[in-house]
Amino acid sequence: MKDKHTYKPCDLIIYGALGDLSRRKLLISLYRLEHAGLIEPETRIIGIDRHEHSQEDFIAIARQNLQEFSSETIEAAVWTRFSARLSYLKIDLTQLDQYQALRTVTDGTSRVMINYFAVSPFLFKNICQGLAKSGVLTSESRMVMEKPIGHDLESCKEINDVVACVFSEEQVFRIDHYLGKETVLNLLALRFANSIFTTNWNHNTIDHIQITVAEEVGIEGRWDYFDQTGQLRDMLQNHLLQILTFIAMEPPADLEAHSIRNEKIKVLKALRPITTENVDDKTVRGQYTSGFIKGQQVPGYLEEEGANLQSRTETFVAIRVDIDNWRWAGVPFYLRTGKRLMGKRTEIVVYFKQLPHNIFKDSFKELPPNKLIIHLQPNEGVEIEMLNKIPGIEEQIKLQKTKLDLSFSDTFKKNRIFGGYEKLVLEAMRGNPTLFLSREEIEQAWTWVDSIQDAWRHYNVSPKDYHAGTWGPIASVALLARDNRGWEE
Ligand code: BG6
Repeated sequence: MKDKHTYKPCDLIIYGALGDLSRRKLLISLYRLEHAGLIEPETRIIGIDRHEHSQEDFIAIARQNLQEFSSETIEAAVWTRFSARLSYLKIDLTQLDQYQALRTVTDGTSRVMINYFAVSPFLFKNICQGLAKSGVLTSESRMVMEKPIGHDLESCKEINDVVACVFSEEQVFRIDHYLGKETVLNLLALRFANSIFTTNWNHNTIDHIQITVAEEVGIEGRWDYFDQTGQLRDMLQNHLLQILTFIAMEPPADLEAHSIRNEKIKVLKALRPITTENVDDKTVRGQYTSGFIKGQQVPGYLEEEGANLQSRTETFVAIRVDIDNWRWAGVPFYLRTGKRLMGKRTEIVVYFKQLPHNIFKDSFKELPPNKLIIHLQPNEGVEIEMLNKIPGIEEQIKLQKTKLDLSFSDTFKKNRIFGGYEKLVLEAMRGNPTLFLSREEIEQAWTWVDSIQDAWRHYNVSPKDYHAGTWGPIASVALLARDNRGWEE
């Protein structure tokens, strides 16, 4: 089938062009897309912010960003092409009359207008009203937003309602940058293009699945934001649940956005609620104290700049998730994520069931299960852990654990692996909603997470300490040990 999403010339308008998100992520991603020759030649990038700047200033800031926040070498020819697309407009986003200025840049063009809201959600209402008032929107216009899309179901709904007054659901592109990651997308290929997995992907063959998103970094100067959010809402509500839906969903009928989204929503709806009844058995909260990462001493969460010593916010969370449907009955999913852990590592480990009988007792008293390990980052790739006979004629059959190892960087040497943002910005420009979250999906995820948050609040328990540079609190080991299992280390 021919791809119906095409690259049309766009006006990509970045609200909050001088803010953190734009400077650290967006502009750099756009430069990389330029470098790869992927931006439509007529496309323009218009930065909007409230400070007085000329076009030249903005171009200089964009260049300085690249030098400061990216390892990219700036190539003269690429930069000339890229900078020619950039322009700047001063608008105070709280002043609805000022949005008229957009008319001067967008009027009379047939470019698709993409409104990228790279600002705090409290400005969304103003921007939507300002855009509506200025009359620049068409049915082809799009809006892009990303987390935090609320801090619970209610606030998420409020944001969605505000946006829905001006943009229809088809025009809204909600970003979770994990969905742009090459390896997350590869989960679709792995599961639905390889019969060895499609036929074995259920409770008959799989014992349990672990999803780890471990970070080395701490709070990175965002203490206030993070302290009101916590790791559950900052990482698990979005990135880990997204990975979970890709791992657990039923085969979609095709790759169309609505087909994939519907299957993901079904998974979210089947998540067994965690409530005051079971929260103690199913979840672990942790907070890091000082420790060592790669030989360097790092401060604890409560010693970070701006910290409130009374804070009980979690920087680590581990959860046993049960999915109440036919495919996954009796197969727990263990999710964990934390800041200041031993290393940066995002991976999925699928543990297959043990065989019913062992004829190799000389090698292993108990046969270790096969494992499928999917490395999402870094060192993207897939490994299968299996047992093999050690070659030799002297002895009886002796087994050893070995790995089938598919490293993406070795196998696809010529293909550059882009970051999530590049892919998502490109897809927003193509108008392909497949990798973006629908309203129903995100609200369903909040419904499940709110119940955990409420249960924690009910018991008002402090998070467990763990030293920076470890794999989290001991209680996280106990979470699996209770089920006779252990985390993949
Ligand atoms: C963001 C979180 O969404 O994802 C950050 O707000 C986190 O706290 C980051 O550090 C992790 O992203 P990545 O791509 O580095 O795994």
